[in-house]
Amino acid sequence: MRKLTYFIACSIDGFIGGPDGDATTMYPFVDEEFLEFLKAEYPETNPVIVRRAIGTDDFPNRRFDTVIQGRGSYDLALKDGMTSPYAHMREYVASRTLTESPHPNVEIVGDDLVAKVRELKAEDSEFGIYLCGGSQLAGALLDEIDELVIKTYPVVYGTGMPMFGSDFAVTEFTLGEVRSFGNGAVVRTYSRKR
Ligand SMILES: NC(=O)c1ccc[n+]([C@@H]2O[C@H](COP(=O)([O-])OP(=O)(O)OC[C@H]3O[C@@H](n4cnc5c(N)ncnc54)[C@H](OP(=O)(O)O)[C@@H]3O)[C@@H](O)[C@H]2O)c1
Repeated sequence: MRKLTYFIACSIDGFIGGPDGDATTMYPFVDEEFLEFLKAEYPETNPVIVRRAIGTDDFPNRRFDTVIQGRGSYDLALKDGMTSPYAHMREYVASRTLTESPHPNVEIVGDDLVAKVRELKAEDSEFGIYLCGGSQLAGALLDEIDELVIKTYPVVYGTGMPMFGSDFAVTEFTLGEVRSFGNGAVVRTYSRKR
């Protein structure tokens, strides 16, 4: 089985954006050192537009060959005119309202979300699946998540969009790698306790 990894940026108090999900206040923490880390370790997690801007559009994928995001997150790309924001991977968008995909590389997943994710996890591949967010989708897929990679920036929001839009449930994870950066950012990797 390959892994479903929720790779996400958040505040110290666990929010992935402001109350409406706006994550732009996190951008300043992607400084030179942090960007070098992303380029070296997670180049495929940058969308095409960013890869072009930072000169990594021909970097091979390191960990993921498939990405899944919620329609809320995908809408942000659509607003910027990108119908295939992660063209270097197979793209899935969870939505019960989008009936037709706007791009051949993007498959819409409607009512059978968990079944589809299990099917993808069962595929034979050396690469994993990148769960890109946002909150609602991560909540819907919490039971399927095998790994968390949490980029915590040194900022408190007080309130905002939670990492998981789900009901209260205690789910245990085991801490793996921890990396810290000069600007106070910390990246922690956790695996699900089975
Ligand atoms: N900090 C970060 O690293 C980061 C990363 C990604 C996103 N974000 C932020 O997250 C925000 C978006 O999060 P969000 O929670 O509002 O939206 P979301 O999780 O991206 O998308 C929610 C939508 O996904 C679909 N969906 C959810 N559960 C489903 C299920 N079980 N089956 C089928 N479809 C399902 C529904 O689409 P339909 O309504 O079409 O049915 C739902 O409205 C954005 O503002 C973005 O900035 C932050």
